[in-house]
Amino acid sequence: MAQIIGYIGTSHVPAIGGAIAKQLQQDPYWKPFFDGYPPVRQWLDRAKPDVVVIFYNDHGLNFFLDKMPTFAVGAAEQYRNADEGWGLPNFGTYRGYPELSWHIIEQLLEDEFDPVTCQEMLVDHAFSIPMKLLWPQGHSELRTVPIAINTVQHPLPSARRCYKLGQSVGRAIASWPEPVKVLVMGTGGLSHQLDGERAGFINRAFDQLCLEQLEQQPEALTRYDTTELVRIAGTQGVELLNWIAARGALEGHVRRVHCSYHIPISNTASAVLLLENQPAARN
Ligand code: DHB
Ligand code: FE
Repeated sequence: MAQIIGYIGTSHVPAIGGAIAKQLQQDPYWKPFFDGYPPVRQWLDRAKPDVVVIFYNDHGLNFFLDKMPTFAVGAAEQYRNADEGWGLPNFGTYRGYPELSWHIIEQLLEDEFDPVTCQEMLVDHAFSIPMKLLWPQGHSELRTVPIAINTVQHPLPSARRCYKLGQSVGRAIASWPEPVKVLVMGTGGLSHQLDGERAGFINRAFDQLCLEQLEQQPEALTRYDTTELVRIAGTQGVELLNWIAARGALEGHVRRVHCSYHIPISNTASAVLLLENQPAARN
């Protein structure tokens, strides 16, 4: 049976891609941010996941404001990266796992979710930057399942709904018969606001609370409605929904392996959180 071995929440700020392309990892502005990742990569070297299921939001590349699914699941053989306008290098192509994608989709329907199913799907910086941060040397064997959540155009799905989506995905993975090791990932956040009167808004206290609650009390984060989340975390801080959804997939004993938080990267409070998952024993 498949096993969820861990969880990674990470920021996906586009400027990170530019810094990687220019090899600015040791630059004083960037160093505190990039220093958060070697412990995570060391864990990945040991844990060796076969599959990564990525909860992220599309920023107008694959879906635009005219057609915006609340939830969309990739079910393609591969996913091509493209740039929706940041001037980022192309980070290539990611191997899909359509059999697992369809298994997840079937479970979602059974649990009364109605995702858009995508047999072709471009992935933007919210997918490619986390992949580059975690597997800078490449990932040819790793299979991926992208799950896009609308955090862009209101009305957004509630935190509770996103958590339940993750729980449903977790059930699907737990019943997948192949003996693969699965990592779940949520990208974006933490607090940030890119435009309007509060551009540059960051809420350190809320971010710290989220990082704590994601570990042991994730359901506490589902009490916020989306308007409240915008107020507390910023208009783009609602990308926290991706982190909450991914956390819903874990059941069993969760242990924090690594966490770093750094303000700011571009307009954003950046963070990376790694949780190890000891699946609950099943009969
Ligand atoms: C920034 C952050 C994001 O999450 C994003 O999608 C785009 C830009 C930023 O801080 O620049
Ligand atoms: Fe974003």
